[in-house]
Amino acid sequence: MTEPTDAPQLTKPAAGLTPAELAATPEEHNRLAQNALMRADDLIAGYLPGVDILKHCNFYLNDGEIVGIIGPNGAGKSTLLKTLFGLIPVRHGAVTLRGDNITSALAHVLVTKGVGYVPQTQNVFQALTIEENLEMGIYLRPKKFAERFDAVADLFPLLGERRKIKAGALSGGERQMVAMGRALMMEPSVLLLDEPSAGLSPMFQDEVFIRCKQINGTGVSIIMVEQNARRCLQICDRGYVLDQGTNAYTDTGRNLMNDPKVIELYLGTLAGSRESK
Ligand SMILES: Nc1ncnc2c1ncn2[C@@H]1O[C@H](COP(=O)(O)OP(=O)(O)O)[C@@H](O)[C@H]1O
Ligand SMILES: [Mg+2]
Repeated sequence: MTEPTDAPQLTKPAAGLTPAELAATPEEHNRLAQNALMRADDLIAGYLPGVDILKHCNFYLNDGEIVGIIGPNGAGKSTLLKTLFGLIPVRHGAVTLRGDNITSALAHVLVTKGVGYVPQTQNVFQALTIEENLEMGIYLRPKKFAERFDAVADLFPLLGERRKIKAGALSGGERQMVAMGRALMMEPSVLLLDEPSAGLSPMFQDEVFIRCKQINGTGVSIIMVEQNARRCLQICDRGYVLDQGTNAYTDTGRNLMNDPKVIELYLGTLAGSRESK
């Protein structure tokens, strides 16, 4: 059924690119990323010697944006977030934040520079209360705890109401709120979220996307990896499709949802009809 010509093209021809493919080329990335808040250029990174997971991956985030990263399982989405947060050795390329080179900077240094990271799994201390989890988020500035707790509880009232409850007693969706709240304690300017809606009930999934919009409304720029690709593209300003360790397509969320190749390869046949409702 699948024509060989329909396969993602690894060696892109100079002409005949769709707008989203063109925007993903290094030349366009360099042009478009000039005023970015955070950017990654030509990243090569991986876990095991000799095995590159990210392969010449380019990415940028402008101040105030929500940028979504979608793509098949194993594409390297989590690896990209971990690399931005200094958790994976970078073999080539650079990560910059407001023009400062932060490639491979230590996580606690990045936190003080305003980067927050919420991993996909094991992102709360189950034996600790909500309040203690949030304290862990601001251990570098304990004097600001009360003020920041109130600000975070404004966004997530549940965290204030249930502050003495152990995180292990909460539902998956509630724990995700704790994890996001913890990352917000240091007042980040950039929040990295790895699959925040994964494994949650549909109601909580929706809540996560609404919260992301609200957090973004308080001035926090967001990079969000999502398996719920369509919903993610609906709320994000721009999106990337990551495939085989590189940025294969990038455009506004709306354009990606309407891009025939992206629909066919990554969103499934229902994408167009859902988007038009
Ligand atoms: N800790 C690790 N050690 C070695 N390989 C890993 C590790 N984590 C992920 N990988 C590999 O890196 C590739 C990309 O994984 P990942 O970034 O988790 O993909 P995604 O988040 O897009 O599903 C996969 O082939 C995966 O097997
Ligand atoms: Mg992942």
